[in-house]
Amino acid sequence: MTSAPTLATSPPPAHRPDSNDPCWCGSGRRYKRCHRTSDLDRSVAQAGGAPLVPSAPRVRPGVVGPLREVPAGIVRPPYARGEGMPAARDPGRPRDADTIARMRVAGRAAAEVLAAVGRAVAPGVTTDELDRVAHTETVARGAYPSPLLYGNPPYPKGICTSVNEVICHGIPDSTVLAAGDIVNVDVTVFLDGVHGDTNATFFVGGEEAADLQSRELVRVTREATWKGIEAVRPGARVRDIGRAIQTHAQEAGFSVVRQFVGHGIAQQFHAEPSIYHYDEPSATRLLEPGMTFTVEPMINVGSWRAVMWDDDWTAVTADGKRSAQFEHMLVVTDDGAEVLTLL
Ligand code: MF3
Ligand code: CO
Ligand code: CO
Repeated sequence: MTSAPTLATSPPPAHRPDSNDPCWCGSGRRYKRCHRTSDLDRSVAQAGGAPLVPSAPRVRPGVVGPLREVPAGIVRPPYARGEGMPAARDPGRPRDADTIARMRVAGRAAAEVLAAVGRAVAPGVTTDELDRVAHTETVARGAYPSPLLYGNPPYPKGICTSVNEVICHGIPDSTVLAAGDIVNVDVTVFLDGVHGDTNATFFVGGEEAADLQSRELVRVTREATWKGIEAVRPGARVRDIGRAIQTHAQEAGFSVVRQFVGHGIAQQFHAEPSIYHYDEPSATRLLEPGMTFTVEPMINVGSWRAVMWDDDWTAVTADGKRSAQFEHMLVVTDDGAEVLTLL
């Protein structure tokens, strides 16, 4: 329940307060409960008429195209050689220097592929076209697109493309991107025996095409990802990462997805430890130099709850409101973290 803001007796400031700070008007109420909405309405006019909230219809499943061929010379992970999923989950102990060196190369390759796909995001482009770009760029680097044939049922494409209210694991298909959409592209490559995993959310048609709520969601999600990464150091615990992320997301009025987590990674795609993006009290494991894992929070405008499509992969928000995500892969160092998925 909210009531309308009281009449302002002082003019709005040039820089808006944070959501939970007192409103500039002196009412004593939190900004988000007072003049925030009307200020955003004014910045709409200043921004040239961008809407406050999105109006796109719900995302629907499209047609998934045929499997893409991977050249014979490229080394496949075990699950793509018909050996099934790993019998035992890698416990996520610190990695040796040689493994970390190879993960630097795989992480950089994944970041390069992600950037190439990002340049291809535009109105009128299908998500399958983004998969084609990723496939070409991945095999050009001598790498295997890790999602292809991963899991159960086997994932049918080489990347994930998650549009608007799709939280994660959207399958590239005949869906046509439109100006004002947001799309997360998640790239994982298998190179020299290890995986490199990174993702980012892009604005279709540029940020200017997006509504203000989606712009804020994407900004806060990027910031939350980095707050999680900045919590990484030897002696900190896994739960400290999630606490930093959750605090930032909730201060902006957004929610944190609980059903999907970051993960240890090296020779196995998904290893221990699970990296929760909220404060999980049982996540007491200490971080040690040489541990390698991802931080990949999914942040929602509305409810944190997820619903799965019939394809057994695509996860969408229960309320149809938008979701954004960023992902980096890192190694714990002696005094913090080295991010392995930067350009
Ligand atoms: N790249 C995703 C992650 O960050 C996993 C995708 S698995 C897939 O963990 F099979 F859906 F591709
Ligand atoms: Co990941
Ligand atoms: Co990923």
